[in-house]
Amino acid sequence: MKEKIAQIQELLRNELSSCESMQALDALRVKVLGKKGELTALLRGMGQLSPEERPAAGQMINDAREKMTAMLEEKLSALKKLEQQAALRRETIDVTQPCPMPAAGSEHPLTLVMNELVDCFTGMGFEVVEGPEVELDHFNFELMNIPKNHPARDAQDTFYIDDNIVLRTHTSPMQARTMLSRKPPIRIICPGRVYRADEVDASHSPVFHQMEGLVVDKDVTMADLRGTLNAFAERLYGKGITTRFRPSFFPFTEPSAEVDLTCVNCHGKGCRVCKGTGWIEVLGCGMVNPKVLEMCGIDSTVYSGFAFGIGLERIAMQRYSIPDMRLLYEGDMRFLGQFR
Ligand code: PHE
Repeated sequence: MKEKIAQIQELLRNELSSCESMQALDALRVKVLGKKGELTALLRGMGQLSPEERPAAGQMINDAREKMTAMLEEKLSALKKLEQQAALRRETIDVTQPCPMPAAGSEHPLTLVMNELVDCFTGMGFEVVEGPEVELDHFNFELMNIPKNHPARDAQDTFYIDDNIVLRTHTSPMQARTMLSRKPPIRIICPGRVYRADEVDASHSPVFHQMEGLVVDKDVTMADLRGTLNAFAERLYGKGITTRFRPSFFPFTEPSAEVDLTCVNCHGKGCRVCKGTGWIEVLGCGMVNPKVLEMCGIDSTVYSGFAFGIGLERIAMQRYSIPDMRLLYEGDMRFLGQFR
């Protein structure tokens, strides 16, 4: 009996040392300690022993069972530990490994130009204000001295929401909103979207961008307007770039002018971009019409002002040699990706 037990123990020890998986360990446990296992068979064989021999033999088998169970458990916890270590090794992340960079976006050329203009004018003491794109006729037209049945109101140009509400056709209504809500001195710019019922082509879009400027104070003159715009031209495009004022008409400014900048492409010599003229038209401006000042509650005998409206698309197209305005709105990544 003793020998038999020692044999089984020896067998277990041998097999344990080469056992490498939980399944194999479990099979081994069944083989030795299970119902049909070798130790159990010994227990069954006790019937053949004499009554005197039985207690000692039973004791021996039980001791052996305990010992072998302990051996199996020890192996089990060793295997578990190994498995855990393997799992940890599998899941290790090397944080020093180089990884692919996430694709970065880029700012839209119109945003780039807008930010540049905002920088330029805030540097001269202007404050940025913003206003609604869905605007009352009253601000968009009436207070801008564009009465009912003025040609600028032509239904072909203006998107009407109803009789009194329009999509703003310019950023000028912010002149009126600002003058009505604050007292001079006023020095604001207002960048934003404007809407006109134009057919889409290489130089027109029903949605485009303007930046309004308004200065109202005592003794503001046309020279201040010219000086401000020259400073803007130089700041934006560098030395030698200047402005040319051409007489024009806007109902809300008097006198009014259209302003050209020296063509940045040819520096005034004349090229394809400026159609041989050496100049690029970029904005409309003028001295705020005293009628507008009065309608907006400002005493025109004490105060005067100037205003301007810059077209951002023109400037962006010039600056980045963009031949077709539609490129600015199509969202083509091959185009936009060039502005990193
Ligand atoms: N609002 C005018 C336009 O849309 C531009 C402008 C603004 C002209 C301010 C004079 C003064 O064309």
